[in-house]
Amino acid sequence: MRTNLPIDETGLWDDLMALAARTEPDRPWTRRAFSPMFLEGRAFVAARMREAGLAVRIDPAGNLIGRREGRRADARAIVIGSHSDTVPDGGRFDGTAGVMAGIAVARSLARDGRELDHAVEIIDCLAEEVSIFGLSCIGSRAVAGALSAEQLNRQEPTGERLAAAIERMGGSIDHLGEARRTDIAAYLELHIEQGPVLADQRRDIGIVTAIAGITRIEITVEGRADHAGTTPMTLRQDALAGGAAVVTAIAKDARRRAAAGHGHFVATVGEFRIEPNAANVVPGRVTMLVDARAEERGFLEGFVTELPPLLQRALGGTGTRLADFRVISDALPALSDPMLLDVLEGASDTLGLDAMRMASGAGHDMAWFSRIAPAAMIFIPSKDGRSHTPEEWSEPGEIAAGAAVLHEALLRLDTMLA
Ligand code: GLV
Ligand code: MN
Ligand code: MN
Repeated sequence: MRTNLPIDETGLWDDLMALAARTEPDRPWTRRAFSPMFLEGRAFVAARMREAGLAVRIDPAGNLIGRREGRRADARAIVIGSHSDTVPDGGRFDGTAGVMAGIAVARSLARDGRELDHAVEIIDCLAEEVSIFGLSCIGSRAVAGALSAEQLNRQEPTGERLAAAIERMGGSIDHLGEARRTDIAAYLELHIEQGPVLADQRRDIGIVTAIAGITRIEITVEGRADHAGTTPMTLRQDALAGGAAVVTAIAKDARRRAAAGHGHFVATVGEFRIEPNAANVVPGRVTMLVDARAEERGFLEGFVTELPPLLQRALGGTGTRLADFRVISDALPALSDPMLLDVLEGASDTLGLDAMRMASGAGHDMAWFSRIAPAAMIFIPSKDGRSHTPEEWSEPGEIAAGAAVLHEALLRLDTMLA
């Protein structure tokens, strides 16, 4: 790895640690979208954008955007994006590495007094992680014009609707259509790999060729709430007992499918709610969220179509019923732009960094930007492949190396796209 990179490694690292410190104090590292802590984090990001000479705004979808104008007034923007929200009990690098690397690139441009033909934008996309609304990539969906009225109407457990929450983040639902972009020349994203491949193979950079498709399904199982002390076991309609059968059936079916040789396939029940959730009441209702991902679209569709009958069978004899089965989001597999892949590879080579091409099983904002612009992303190594946990780690030099690739790719694209 080279050390004389065009990026201030210490400044980038200090920014990342300062953003990470904006966490729910008793749950490091937690800064979930739409929370007061998220707004504190964003205030810091916006301040760092301004200090890097960027003009800061929030678009109608609640994306935080820092912009540096180009020499040509008609020039489209080259965008560097990612996200500043975290999962609960998450890490310090997922998303934030990309946002702060983008700002570090802008600082380098300002420091070197470099004028580009294209405008450059750093975008902190709203709510990339699955939010309290059960929906992920909210800001980037809107940029692609793919945030539906049904999604905007989703309610979180205390009753707030997504549309209201976006306004609370500084967006404007009446003008949501204006968040849709047609003026992006290229989109680049740096992200931690969140898996073990780069570290195992001792590579500096992953050049991401594709992102797996992701379908999320909300499932509700209904039984009947009754007194837990007086209702005989034979008369119960225990929704949690039914829900447990559903979770087990999904895990078993997913293991079978993953072994079937159709590329990457995974399915997870990672979110689960039980009502009324009291020790002395038989559970009346459970709601869960299934997250299914596949490289092959048809294979993912097969899983979703065959799931309801499978669950009906699993619930047989439990006295409970499948009350709702609802696909709440569905992202197609996304392909990177071949020209951008070459540019990122060339940039890595020039910097003396060892790069390899790879697919992503994790979702990213890039998947949505790829619908409206040439888009690609790079990965940097994750220690032991750990992510979505407090142990998530990447070295300062690894992050700065990735930022240097963004910087070099940006300069090349500014000339190539002119
Ligand atoms: C994003 O973190 C994802 O869920 O893949
Ligand atoms: Mn992420
Ligand atoms: Mn994540």
